[in-house]
Amino acid sequence: EKEHQEKTKVKNIQSVELGKHELDTWYYSPYPEPHASCNKLYICEYTLKYFRKKKTLLRHLAKCTLRHPPGDEIYRSPPAPANDPSLVGGAITNPPISMFEVDGKKSKVYCQNLCLLSKLFLDHKTLYYDVDPFLFYVMCEKDTQGYHIVGYFSKEKASAEGNNLACILTLPPYQRKGYGRFLIAFSYELSKKEGRVGSPERPLSDLGAVSYRSYWTREILEVLREHKASLSIKDISDKTAIRTDDVVKTLESLSLIKYWKGDHIISVTQKIVEDHCKTIANQKNIEIDLNRLHWTPYR
Ligand code: ACO
Repeated sequence: EKEHQEKTKVKNIQSVELGKHELDTWYYSPYPEPHASCNKLYICEYTLKYFRKKKTLLRHLAKCTLRHPPGDEIYRSPPAPANDPSLVGGAITNPPISMFEVDGKKSKVYCQNLCLLSKLFLDHKTLYYDVDPFLFYVMCEKDTQGYHIVGYFSKEKASAEGNNLACILTLPPYQRKGYGRFLIAFSYELSKKEGRVGSPERPLSDLGAVSYRSYWTREILEVLREHKASLSIKDISDKTAIRTDDVVKTLESLSLIKYWKGDHIISVTQKIVEDHCKTIANQKNIEIDLNRLHWTPYR
């Protein structure tokens, strides 16, 4: 009932200013009054505090000393290699990125503000104030000014359903650059460190579903390519931390699975692997350097 009420609420805030960006919003978000009745909000990109007037934001920024999300930096991308021939001719490489782990209980207001901000781009999520049971993995681009938020995912500290991700967002100016894939891959790397399989919380949005399908397809075809010998569904799941039902669904969508006397049989042809290699060449993929991930599971 509550969910229905929120869904039918009319979009209130039309745009937000965040760092150097002005973002047009997509959906309703329950910012408290009087902010909810504003056409535009001004948001501090470091604390995610929100203001009705630019003047007030500027006054806040003059005092604000935070330059990164309030948590531990658990990942920092490797420095761009010097003398990289691919940089010649003005080729653009990705700016350095970092991941911060923020505890919903320890940094409650920041995490609530993050949920309110992300709701502007998410249709179907209802978590805004009860952030204690979650950890937030915030992705930032770093420059000389500080760490600029580009996206995040949340994760339950203990998920009864075995979910390794609750909510994922790439802020619109940063979408379609491979950051969503990076965040998804990161969530599975954490699962691997926990020695578990995982899956995203349902329902997925349309954009969430495309992104996961693309990620699962690539990961599964990669392990099938590496291990020419036959692998079972369970083997694939163990290697990727992708839950078996997601593996089956992905293989089915690729028509790579057959049923024989109640068993799954995976059949991969050379042609499919070759086609896949062509697809990969067009994907934006930001590698995770596992030597740079400093993380232990939540206890
Ligand atoms: N149209 C078609 N394909 C798309 C689009 C789009 N608008 N956006 C992304 N994709 C595809 C990409 O082409 C890519 O596939 P490919 O590598 O096979 O080409 C794949 O999805 C991932 O693209 P990324 O650039 O890595 O993803 P992005 O940084 O844009 O983030 C995300 C994806 C997080 C879903 C983003 O669209 C978003 O924040 N959307 C709004 C919030 C949302 O819907 N979140 C998911 C809710 S479900 C949940 O939280 C469990």
